[in-house]
Amino acid sequence: MRIPELNKRVFIISVVFAHAAIAGTETSEVDEGEFEVSEEILAIVGDAEYGEYLAGDCTGCHQIDGSYDGIPSITGWESESFVWAMQSYKQKEREHPVMQMMAGRLSDEEIAALAAYFEKLE
Ligand code: HEC
Repeated sequence: MRIPELNKRVFIISVVFAHAAIAGTETSEVDEGEFEVSEEILAIVGDAEYGEYLAGDCTGCHQIDGSYDGIPSITGWESESFVWAMQSYKQKEREHPVMQMMAGRLSDEEIAALAAYFEKLE
Protein backbone atom coordinates (compact mmCIF):
# COMPACT_ATOMS: atom_id res chain seq x y z
CA MET A 1 0.00 0.00 0.00
CA ARG A 2 1.29 3.45 -0.88
CA ILE A 3 1.04 5.97 1.96
CA PRO A 4 0.79 9.56 0.72
CA GLU A 5 3.68 11.79 1.89
CA LEU A 6 1.53 13.99 4.12
CA ASN A 7 -0.07 11.07 5.91
CA LYS A 8 3.32 9.58 6.49
CA ARG A 9 4.45 12.78 8.17
CA VAL A 10 1.32 12.95 10.30
CA PHE A 11 1.83 9.33 11.22
CA ILE A 12 5.43 9.85 12.30
CA ILE A 13 4.45 12.84 14.39
CA SER A 14 1.59 10.87 15.97
CA VAL A 15 4.01 8.15 16.98
CA VAL A 16 6.33 10.71 18.55
CA PHE A 17 3.44 12.24 20.45
CA ALA A 18 2.15 8.87 21.55
CA HIS A 19 5.54 8.25 23.14
CA ALA A 20 5.45 11.65 24.76
CA ALA A 21 2.01 10.87 26.17
CA ILE A 22 3.20 7.54 27.55
CA ALA A 23 6.10 9.31 29.23
CA GLY A 24 3.48 11.36 31.01
CA THR A 25 4.44 14.74 29.60
CA GLU A 26 2.26 17.12 27.69
CA THR A 27 2.73 20.67 26.54
CA SER A 28 5.00 22.27 29.08
CA GLU A 29 5.28 25.71 30.59
CA VAL A 30 8.34 27.39 32.00
CA ASP A 31 8.48 30.08 34.58
CA GLU A 32 10.42 32.71 32.64
CA GLY A 33 11.72 34.23 35.82
CA GLU A 34 13.68 31.19 36.91
CA PHE A 35 15.69 29.91 34.01
CA GLU A 36 18.71 31.94 33.00
CA VAL A 37 21.08 31.48 30.10
CA SER A 38 24.67 32.52 30.74
CA GLU A 39 26.16 35.63 29.16
CA GLU A 40 28.75 33.46 27.37
CA ILE A 41 26.05 31.48 25.59
CA LEU A 42 24.03 34.57 24.69
CA ALA A 43 27.19 36.23 23.32
CA ILE A 44 27.75 33.53 20.67
CA VAL A 45 27.13 34.98 17.23
CA GLY A 46 25.35 32.40 15.12
CA ASP A 47 26.14 31.61 11.50
CA ALA A 48 22.77 31.85 9.71
CA GLU A 49 23.95 29.82 6.73
CA TYR A 50 24.95 26.92 8.98
CA GLY A 51 21.61 27.40 10.73
CA GLU A 52 19.78 26.97 7.45
CA TYR A 53 21.57 23.66 6.97
CA LEU A 54 20.71 22.48 10.49
CA ALA A 55 17.10 23.62 10.17
CA GLY A 56 16.32 20.61 7.99
CA ASP A 57 15.89 18.68 11.24
CA CYS A 58 13.29 21.13 12.50
CA THR A 59 11.07 21.94 9.55
CA GLY A 60 9.57 18.46 9.41
CA CYS A 61 7.55 19.63 12.41
CA HIS A 62 7.83 23.44 12.59
CA GLN A 63 6.38 25.11 9.49
CA ILE A 64 9.03 27.09 7.63
CA ASP A 65 6.42 29.69 6.60
CA GLY A 66 5.69 30.38 10.27
CA SER A 67 2.16 29.01 10.20
CA TYR A 68 0.78 27.13 13.17
CA ASP A 69 -0.44 23.57 12.68
CA GLY A 70 -0.50 22.38 16.26
CA ILE A 71 3.26 22.85 16.59
CA PRO A 72 4.36 26.34 17.60
CA SER A 73 5.83 28.72 15.05
CA ILE A 74 9.54 29.43 15.55
CA THR A 75 10.19 31.92 12.74
CA GLY A 76 10.93 35.60 13.28
CA TRP A 77 11.83 35.15 16.96
CA GLU A 78 14.41 37.44 18.44
CA SER A 79 17.50 35.26 18.62
CA GLU A 80 17.89 35.73 22.36
CA SER A 81 14.41 34.29 23.01
CA PHE A 82 15.11 31.45 20.62
CA VAL A 83 18.38 30.58 22.36
CA TRP A 84 16.65 30.82 25.72
CA ALA A 85 13.89 28.40 24.64
CA MET A 86 16.36 25.91 23.14
CA GLN A 87 18.66 26.05 26.17
CA SER A 88 15.72 25.48 28.48
CA TYR A 89 15.05 22.19 26.69
CA LYS A 90 18.74 21.28 26.41
CA GLN A 91 19.30 21.86 30.11
CA LYS A 92 16.09 19.93 30.89
CA GLU A 93 14.46 22.91 32.55
CA ARG A 94 11.57 22.79 30.13
CA GLU A 95 9.91 19.42 29.85
CA HIS A 96 9.22 17.97 26.45
CA PRO A 97 10.85 14.71 25.42
CA VAL A 98 11.04 15.49 21.70
CA MET A 99 12.46 18.97 22.08
CA GLN A 100 14.80 17.89 24.90
CA MET A 101 16.20 15.30 22.53
CA MET A 102 16.46 17.74 19.61
CA ALA A 103 18.11 20.47 21.70
CA GLY A 104 20.21 18.01 23.69
CA ARG A 105 22.24 16.96 20.70
CA LEU A 106 22.92 20.50 19.51
CA SER A 107 26.00 22.42 20.64
CA ASP A 108 25.65 25.99 21.88
CA GLU A 109 27.12 27.17 18.55
CA GLU A 110 24.54 25.16 16.61
CA ILE A 111 21.71 26.64 18.67
CA ALA A 112 23.07 30.12 17.97
CA ALA A 113 23.24 29.30 14.25
CA LEU A 114 19.62 28.12 14.24
CA ALA A 115 18.58 31.26 16.12
CA ALA A 116 20.33 33.45 13.53
CA TYR A 117 18.61 31.62 10.69
CA PHE A 118 15.07 31.45 12.09
CA GLU A 119 15.22 35.08 13.22
CA LYS A 120 15.48 36.16 9.58
CA LEU A 121 12.45 34.17 8.44
CA GLU A 122 9.15 35.98 8.36
C1 HEC B 1 9.03 15.87 16.07
C2 HEC B 1 8.59 17.26 15.95
C3 HEC B 1 9.58 18.37 16.26
C4 HEC B 1 10.84 18.54 15.74
C5 HEC B 1 11.59 17.68 14.76
C6 HEC B 1 11.33 19.79 16.31
N1 HEC B 1 10.39 20.34 17.14
FE1 HEC B 1 10.59 22.09 18.19
N2 HEC B 1 8.80 21.74 19.10
C7 HEC B 1 7.96 20.68 18.83
C8 HEC B 1 6.82 20.75 19.73
C9 HEC B 1 5.66 19.78 19.79
C10 HEC B 1 7.02 21.89 20.56
C11 HEC B 1 6.17 22.38 21.73
C12 HEC B 1 6.80 21.74 22.95
C13 HEC B 1 6.36 22.32 24.28
O1 HEC B 1 5.17 22.46 24.49
O2 HEC B 1 7.25 22.59 25.11
C14 HEC B 1 8.27 22.49 20.11
C15 HEC B 1 8.79 23.65 20.66
C16 HEC B 1 9.89 24.33 20.15
C17 HEC B 1 10.32 25.64 20.56
C18 HEC B 1 9.64 26.51 21.61
C19 HEC B 1 8.40 27.09 20.98
C20 HEC B 1 7.58 27.92 21.91
O3 HEC B 1 6.56 28.49 21.43
O4 HEC B 1 7.90 28.05 23.09
C21 HEC B 1 11.43 25.96 19.83
C22 HEC B 1 12.23 27.24 19.87
C23 HEC B 1 11.68 24.84 18.96
N3 HEC B 1 10.73 23.86 19.17
C24 HEC B 1 12.73 24.76 18.06
C25 HEC B 1 13.04 23.62 17.32
C26 HEC B 1 14.26 23.49 16.54
C27 HEC B 1 15.32 24.57 16.38
C28 HEC B 1 14.23 22.24 15.98
C29 HEC B 1 15.30 21.59 15.11
C30 HEC B 1 16.63 21.48 15.70
C31 HEC B 1 12.99 21.60 16.42
N4 HEC B 1 12.31 22.47 17.23
C32 HEC B 1 12.57 20.33 16.03
C33 HEC B 1 8.14 19.71 17.87
C34 HEC B 1 9.31 19.50 17.14
